[in-house]
Amino acid sequence: MSATNKEKIRCDVVVIGGGPGGYTAAFRAADLGLSVCLVEQREKLGGVCLHEGCIPSKTLLHGTSLIEEAVQAAEYGITFGETKVDISVLREKKEQVISKLANGLDALAKARNIIRITGTGFFQDSSTLLVEGEDSVITVSFTDTVIATGSSPFMLPGLPDDPRIWDSSDALVLKTIPRKLLIIGGGVIGMEMAQVYSGLGSAITVVEMLDHIIPPADKDLIQPLFLKLKRKYQIFTKSRVTELTADESGILASFAGVKVPDSGTFDAVLVAVGRQPNSTGMGIKEIGCKINERGFIVVDTHQQTTVPHFYAVGDVVGEPMLAHKASHEAKVAAENISGQHSTFNPETIPSVAYTSPEIAWMGVTEKEAKEKKIEFTKGKFPWGASGRALSVGASTGVTKLLFDKKSGKIIGAGICGAHAGELIHEAVLALEQGATAEEISKTVHAHPTLAETFAFAAEIVNGTITDALPPKKR
Ligand code: NAI
Repeated sequence: MSATNKEKIRCDVVVIGGGPGGYTAAFRAADLGLSVCLVEQREKLGGVCLHEGCIPSKTLLHGTSLIEEAVQAAEYGITFGETKVDISVLREKKEQVISKLANGLDALAKARNIIRITGTGFFQDSSTLLVEGEDSVITVSFTDTVIATGSSPFMLPGLPDDPRIWDSSDALVLKTIPRKLLIIGGGVIGMEMAQVYSGLGSAITVVEMLDHIIPPADKDLIQPLFLKLKRKYQIFTKSRVTELTADESGILASFAGVKVPDSGTFDAVLVAVGRQPNSTGMGIKEIGCKINERGFIVVDTHQQTTVPHFYAVGDVVGEPMLAHKASHEAKVAAENISGQHSTFNPETIPSVAYTSPEIAWMGVTEKEAKEKKIEFTKGKFPWGASGRALSVGASTGVTKLLFDKKSGKIIGAGICGAHAGELIHEAVLALEQGATAEEISKTVHAHPTLAETFAFAAEIVNGTITDALPPKKR
């Protein structure tokens, strides 16, 4: 169902934002018997995740990983001809994936009789939302609302207005392949985009303010990735860009920091220094929703804001800004609106950087454990000793597990290696279930698999490892 022109609509729940937070809240609320109106600025559902984030980036990363695999095939005696990249085909593949998923979401919304409105929502009062479309203003009166307006790329202040200076959305358009690409920020977006453009032939320079790339993960976990990338990219840590100026020859960047040159000229610059919540311009502050000093809407574990019938989910309520956090929060909001008692307080939310090798982590990192003075034991299994990793040419990696010294339960895990983003979920389940090193060690893992490295790391802590040097005598 879609609404048009100058209509007035009445519904139980109006959801603002059609990303993973918004559409999940809308779908769950409808499944719980509520009448739902879903407001989204874009014609299609899916939000940043589907249109300018997770999905297009993973499609492009897969494309460029095929180039890497084709090169690696030579180790197995298989060679292909010279690699040729047709970016129009790659772009088209990305659009096909987006379109297929967006159409799927349309069908799921339709099957639930959700009223879709395309436009921008503004709260006139605490029970009325005005939605301004291209040539219509629709008034929606509602009982409850879920705000799922997401986040936008944060751009450094004072940058010249130049199409060669990109945010992550621009980078994913894949308009051109710059010969020299500067990436400001060595976080998840910066390193994933570095991989895409490096694969397509750009010379990459990364400038990261902190002392290592992907700073939320432990430095030792990143090390195998860093050593591999250092051979291909210029990476300057503890460094920053002090100025960008644009002229015909390119974008001139001035740098400050450790072992970084004074300046360099680039064909394009990607600014990937974080994202900021979209919490302003909707009139929610005026209604009484508290917004904190960083711009996030304040919510409790029910996803309820400081106005009881206003709920909020996803990037707009805080970090980590991840689609899987948003969708879980969304179900909690919808369930509470329907009268159930539901809370969002998971033990952990896993993070994945889809680099090559992938980096995935969950629970506390070793750095955090030390900062919080948590006493822990550590098991670290190098993938160079894994039969499966060696067979499939994926020996660049490590699996690290942390266990609480007193309770023996798992408190953290980090994996660097192929498919780490898939493998981390065994650790998430172990943490949610309070598994110990002994329990993980005694859980039979198939041989030879990459997942075995998880059990081997636990066996190191359990003192029963036989696939590595003998355990230290206690
Ligand atoms: P981020 O916060 O992950 O990384 C930004 C990086 O920029 C940090 O390492 C920071 O130290 C650095 N930085 C900040 N200011 C700087 C400056 N002036 N000069 C040099 N370095 C500077 O943010 P990012 O990568 O933009 O991602 C935004 C959000 O999107 C994150 O919350 C991330 O979790 C999420 N995301 C998740 C993905 C995934 O799950 N694979 C993929 C893409 C984004």
